[in-house]
Amino acid sequence: MPASAVIHFPKGFLWGCATASHQVEGNNTNNNWYRWEQEGHTKHQSGLACDWWGGRWKEDMDRAAETFQNAHRFSVEWSRIQPLPDRWDESALERYRAMARGMTERGIAPMVTLHHFTDPLWLYDQCGWEDEAVVPLFEKYTRKVVEALKEYVTHWVTINEPNIYALSGYVAGDFPTCQASHKGMAAALRALANMLRGHAAAYHAIHQIQPEARVGYALHYRPMVAARPWFPPDLLMRNLQYSGINLAFPSALSSGVMKSPLGNVKIPQVKGLQDYLGINYYSVDTVKFDLGNPRELFGRRYFPEDSDFSATKFIANIPHGMYDSLAWAAKTYPNLPLIITENGVEDPADSLRPRYLAQHLQQVWRAVNFNFPVKGYYHWSLVDNFEWERGWTQRFGLWGLDVETQARLRRPSVDLYAEICRENGLSSDMVAKYAPEVSATMFPG
Ligand code: FCB
Repeated sequence: MPASAVIHFPKGFLWGCATASHQVEGNNTNNNWYRWEQEGHTKHQSGLACDWWGGRWKEDMDRAAETFQNAHRFSVEWSRIQPLPDRWDESALERYRAMARGMTERGIAPMVTLHHFTDPLWLYDQCGWEDEAVVPLFEKYTRKVVEALKEYVTHWVTINEPNIYALSGYVAGDFPTCQASHKGMAAALRALANMLRGHAAAYHAIHQIQPEARVGYALHYRPMVAARPWFPPDLLMRNLQYSGINLAFPSALSSGVMKSPLGNVKIPQVKGLQDYLGINYYSVDTVKFDLGNPRELFGRRYFPEDSDFSATKFIANIPHGMYDSLAWAAKTYPNLPLIITENGVEDPADSLRPRYLAQHLQQVWRAVNFNFPVKGYYHWSLVDNFEWERGWTQRFGLWGLDVETQARLRRPSVDLYAEICRENGLSSDMVAKYAPEVSATMFPG
């Protein structure tokens, strides 16, 4: 029998999972998502979620530690920490300190996201990120959090997926936005510009309090291809959608000018303010010119019919997109450390996840071999959690969750990921054991 082939990752590589406050904590009643759920805009309600606020983060962190994860990305909830404009809740901060400490004690390095889609109701009611007044408010909140957690945390994510926040809210209408009349691309761009200003303010605040901090944001990066590359309207749509969805934040961080299909906005203070780039990669879109879709500027994004689909067809398994995303990032920001802040797939049966995981990690490894400075990988997610407007219909966890009983179900991917984290690598034996259907293509010969 031939010896197992092993692809190794750099020493000190961060291996973990990512979660977000509203998706795992439960009883999060003071933010705009809670109201959005109450108003019936979501498939289900978050309810107890994974009951992390009730203390179940401990058992889940035991699971992470026992399966050799050495890092975890979680978010803190602004509406808990600052329930009213003139009120700070020290006990909430203390609870987050306990979480960060608990991770550290288990050998898990915490990475903290300050804003992951949710806004406190008081902020939402004054139109949140649409109004520049949010910038000093976000800075103040950031200072509070960093003062409280700096003992345990050096990696900070200011804002998660600003592009998805703005587009899912103002353009698609799936996420809450404060007034229906504000819907549209112009409001999305206003929010994005304020998020950039907020990021800049937070970046300086964090470094002032904690000079050794590593500060970045998490970009949802979406590679795209034209449906018919020989057909100019498809190419045009591909470029329009690609830049509209991907480039607002990256362009501003590179040049101080936020580029958008509706025009450019100067935000010079944000230029260069990132110590790493966080990339959330899930899939690649195919883009087609479509007269029937004026809402998305006559472009339609979809996955080819013969794709390797996730359970609800939300994600197509396209591993090379992971490499393409890292290659784009390394070219755009030479020498900037890169971290995969999210990657994963919804798959209750765990029939796709093992190969999705193995194939995507092989692409991360390819990038490492081109000397792209990739420092870590955070799988989305540790346990099934509340998937926004899609409620509980999508199951992204390594562990499954019975929402009624809070029981955790250990999926086979848990063991695959544990072996990867322990080995700091992926071997042909692991693939043969957990995803034999891709053995021959991943390890030919
Ligand atoms: C990302 C979000 C995350 C989760 C995954 C599936 O866009 O950042 O909260 O919902 O998708």
